Amino acid sequence: MELFDVYALFDVEPVKREGCYVYDDQGNKYLDLYGGHAVISIGHSHPLYVQKLTDQLSRLGFYSNSVKNSLQKELAYRLGLISGYEDYSLFVCNSGAEANENALKLASFHTGKGRVIAFRKAFHGRTHGAVTVTDNPKIVAPVNHHDHVTFIPLNDAEALDEALQNGDVCAVIIEGIQGVAGINCPDADFLVTAKTLCEKYGALLILDEVQSGYGRSGKFFAHQYAGIRPDIITVAKGMGNGFPIAGVLISPQIKPSKGMLGTTFGGNHLACAAGLAVLEVMEKEHLIENALATGNYLKEKLSGFKEIKQVKGMGLMLGLEFNFPIAPLRSLLVQQYKVFTGSSGNENVMRLLPPLSLTIEQADQFMAALSSALTLLFSKNQQ
Ligand SMILES: Cc1ncc(COP(=O)(O)O)c(C=O)c1O
Repeated sequence: MELFDVYALFDVEPVKREGCYVYDDQGNKYLDLYGGHAVISIGHSHPLYVQKLTDQLSRLGFYSNSVKNSLQKELAYRLGLISGYEDYSLFVCNSGAEANENALKLASFHTGKGRVIAFRKAFHGRTHGAVTVTDNPKIVAPVNHHDHVTFIPLNDAEALDEALQNGDVCAVIIEGIQGVAGINCPDADFLVTAKTLCEKYGALLILDEVQSGYGRSGKFFAHQYAGIRPDIITVAKGMGNGFPIAGVLISPQIKPSKGMLGTTFGGNHLACAAGLAVLEVMEKEHLIENALATGNYLKEKLSGFKEIKQVKGMGLMLGLEFNFPIAPLRSLLVQQYKVFTGSSGNENVMRLLPPLSLTIEQADQFMAALSSALTLLFSKNQQ
């Protein structure tokens, strides 16, 4: 059997990893400014993470949600403390798309309504419910009809007010920072208005922090820059540092009923051990503060590159906008300079989503590689 060929791959097979680096089978060492798509939060193969997962696996790797699981309770408790959402409750599942599916269902159950407002260029996942609120015709199949969804421009308060006026909307779903689109930040004022309008018209505000959450923006959640409290928050990527785990944080006004949500694998013992190890390392090593400091350093230095039109984003979720498509530059960075970077839905925007433990020295190493790669690329183009 062959693999179903759907991914655009780097021509590299990592076999080993450590901190902000991965190694291929030839022993080449790559600096990882991509973090396996914003997933590696505390660094590759962190010793405490490896130890906690190994210990847990040797005791009990999995049992389903039909029994008590104190690890899930502890995860909810610790996540509440670190995020500032102690009064919310947590539903644990497996992926970002699944978290958003459950968020949309909860909003619909709670309000009894069925319309949704989403944003142009949004990405919320590839499963049915998540893809209906995703603005990318290439990944929306005919079965994913989305007549119940209105897409409006990001940061357009008037359009949001108009779309909510019928009173039939159950949820407004928005990314903390649009990631796949190429790092577009909602304005703080807009988020405040969105929250007010949702309250006025009886809709819930869902913040998709799957990519921007877990400290990546320099705060635990990107929306915390705006000082708002959404009704529902979804998390995934950085939550397990590579072990599949996701969550839905639910405000106290939304009440559960038995059987309303569920999952076979979600919140299993090994996944919770990964989630707990991530939070422990994040706190002990002050990784959120590091994401902010190293991110600000990168932002300031990269803004001085004449080839870069704009540096977007916050913390270690950055978008470098060039005046030209970045595909050849990214290939050169991998092949010649051994640096991984991310692409985006905007062909001119390179995404940086490194582990939150990225040091200033590693940031410098990246910028030296980028500078050399740009020089080489332009000298080649002139020949
Ligand atoms: C903002 C956002 N939401 C949801 C998802 C989907 O997450 P997953 O691939 O874990 O289903 C992604 C994935 O890139 C994302 O960036």
